[in-house]
Amino acid sequence: MSAALQMNKDLIDLGKGVKIPAIGLGTYKATAKGEAYNSVKVALKNGYRHIDTAARYRNEEEIGMAIKDSGVPREEIFITTKLWNADHKIVPQALDTSLQKLGVDYVDLYLLHWPISLDPEHEGERYSDWNYIDTYKELQKLMKTGKVRAIGVSNCTKTQLDKLLSDKDVSIKPVVNQIEAHPLLTQPALFDYCKSKDIKIEAYSPLGSCNSPLFKNPTIVELAKSNNVEPAQILVSWAIQRGTVVLPKSSTAARIVSNLKTIKLPDEDFETLNTLSEKDGVVRTFDPDWADFTE
Ligand SMILES: NC(=O)c1ccc[n+]([C@@H]2O[C@H](COP(=O)([O-])OP(=O)(O)OC[C@H]3O[C@@H](n4cnc5c(N)ncnc54)[C@H](OP(=O)(O)O)[C@@H]3O)[C@@H](O)[C@H]2O)c1
Repeated sequence: MSAALQMNKDLIDLGKGVKIPAIGLGTYKATAKGEAYNSVKVALKNGYRHIDTAARYRNEEEIGMAIKDSGVPREEIFITTKLWNADHKIVPQALDTSLQKLGVDYVDLYLLHWPISLDPEHEGERYSDWNYIDTYKELQKLMKTGKVRAIGVSNCTKTQLDKLLSDKDVSIKPVVNQIEAHPLLTQPALFDYCKSKDIKIEAYSPLGSCNSPLFKNPTIVELAKSNNVEPAQILVSWAIQRGTVVLPKSSTAARIVSNLKTIKLPDEDFETLNTLSEKDGVVRTFDPDWADFTE
């Protein structure tokens, strides 16, 4: 008999009294008018208590309105937003702009979106006198302002994290590293490294993003059938079982609802997914030209 689907209410401890709901609603590309507003309203009404956004997604205002109109108290919702690459030298101002758009006094988690510091005066060019570690030190200062409950990073490689953690002026460890993670991109070395440093992984593009190759993968389709759940529920359940925070995005009401329901996968199925990329190859769905995941 297959395991029963249940609304997932797991919390992951980020330390210092901060707990993050294991499943958060992703909102990247939810930019059509009303899209992010409707998605967040549906999500909060149906049990989500964690929303992931970014200044770059250009939907913070709609998300803020949806939070306000949902009637769910602010303190019950975990909000993450991210600092954009061109704002690395204006961290306090960038955070204030995000807070103002979201209509809140604080965010629960503020992330360095990419370890890439771009000069806004020279579109696409990196600063020669500033890097992501300088930026992270600015994020650290925010911890004293009451405007962020925790800080973290995103898209950092093991080498970049190692450099960050060994800097003498870095005293507050990033609580998370938000990275692409799904059964075709398990990133075992980075996963083990973060675990050893007690940095939680947040899995982005957990469903393989738009036009996902994962939904066409015969093993995933078969596991969904044998467990009597949807392929997306297999992917979210696997991420949960792996101990990661997971951020499925949907702007479709029925999917938003179903993506919050998980099962405990049989050990054998969990292992099949853990090793799927060895059989079917590694697939990175989000790989912009300017990113460098090789370090
Ligand atoms: N830190 C970073 O650099 C970074 C990068 C990428 C993503 N992220 C975060 O992670 C979140 C998730 O990643 P993502 O948006 O790239 O992709 P994703 O969540 O892996 O996939 C989203 C796609 O899957 C579809 N979908 C959702 N639920 C489904 C279901 N039950 N059945 C079939 N299709 C389904 C969605 O369509 P509909 O919306 O049409 O339902 C959408 O096309 C983002 O929204 C963002 O918050 C962060």
